[in-house]
Amino acid sequence: MTAKPIAIACDHAGFPLKQALVAELEAMGEAVLDLGTDDAETSVDYPDFAERLARAIKEGRSERGILVCGTGLGISMAANRHPWVRAAPCHDETTARLSRQHNDANVLALGARIVGLEVAKDCLRSFLGTAFEGGRHERRVNKMA
Ligand code: RB5
Repeated sequence: MTAKPIAIACDHAGFPLKQALVAELEAMGEAVLDLGTDDAETSVDYPDFAERLARAIKEGRSERGILVCGTGLGISMAANRHPWVRAAPCHDETTARLSRQHNDANVLALGARIVGLEVAKDCLRSFLGTAFEGGRHERRVNKMA
């Protein structure tokens, strides 16, 4: 369990997976900061929800975030325009784990049209449960700042 709530946001395409991940996070005992969107029927723009989550991290309301859109790509691209965000679009447990070990990712991005629910849950558990390795990786991460 982490100290601050896990922030989560999505667009309409990501809504069903976001809901499943909110339930999974709560089952894991995590506090959740749900930043929307709130249904799958109303078409919305993923940059607006990436922005909400990036702001929550900047303001210290959360330290880790989950973003979901159709592919995980647009919403991670939008989030990564902020220098304090390192959003990793992940398609399997390995990329989720390495995004923490090597890249100190603070945001996991998932594609609801790409990954199935069990793979998404594996990514989530790995992302939250894996520490940054530091060392040579820290120098590289610092060069991105
Ligand atoms: C929405 O239809 C879709 O384009 C969006 O969720 C995402 O996949 C963009 O990268």
